Amino acid sequence: MSSRSFVLLAFAAALAAGCAHNTAQTITTSRATLGNGSRGAEVFRANCAVCHTASGAAGGVGPSLEHEKQRKNYDQTVAWIESPDPPMPKLYPAPLTEKDVEDVAAYVQSL
Ligand code: HEC
Repeated sequence: MSSRSFVLLAFAAALAAGCAHNTAQTITTSRATLGNGSRGAEVFRANCAVCHTASGAAGGVGPSLEHEKQRKNYDQTVAWIESPDPPMPKLYPAPLTEKDVEDVAAYVQSL
């Protein structure tokens, strides 16, 4: 192999590796933005179930959250949890972090 074609091959390999890397990064970013619903389930049990029942169904102090995504989309759910109307308590920025809110919002969207 001439040294010139070796350089070209190495360049192509670097490009391919770069693309694969970018794809992986894109997936990670969108997951972070949408929240992690399975982690959100734990946040929900610890902070929300007391009023919204363990499954988010009717019967608690708070309203049923079933089919919540028909009332609020993901961004609206995040906004509500960060700044709810009373009597729902404001749990952000403490005890819930921004990641907790994103994760629990993703969970609520799945109910
Ligand atoms: C102390 C009781 C209480 C706790 C704890 C609580 N909520 Fe609520 N929540 C309420 C009440 C009451 C409402 C209705 C408020 C209203 O609409 O005036 C409500 C409303 C909501 C709504 C809006 C429902 C709709 O009609 O669109 C969402 C979403 C929600 N809660 C999610 C959560 C999540 C997620 C948590 C945990 C991080 C949580 N709540 C913790 C009492 C509570």
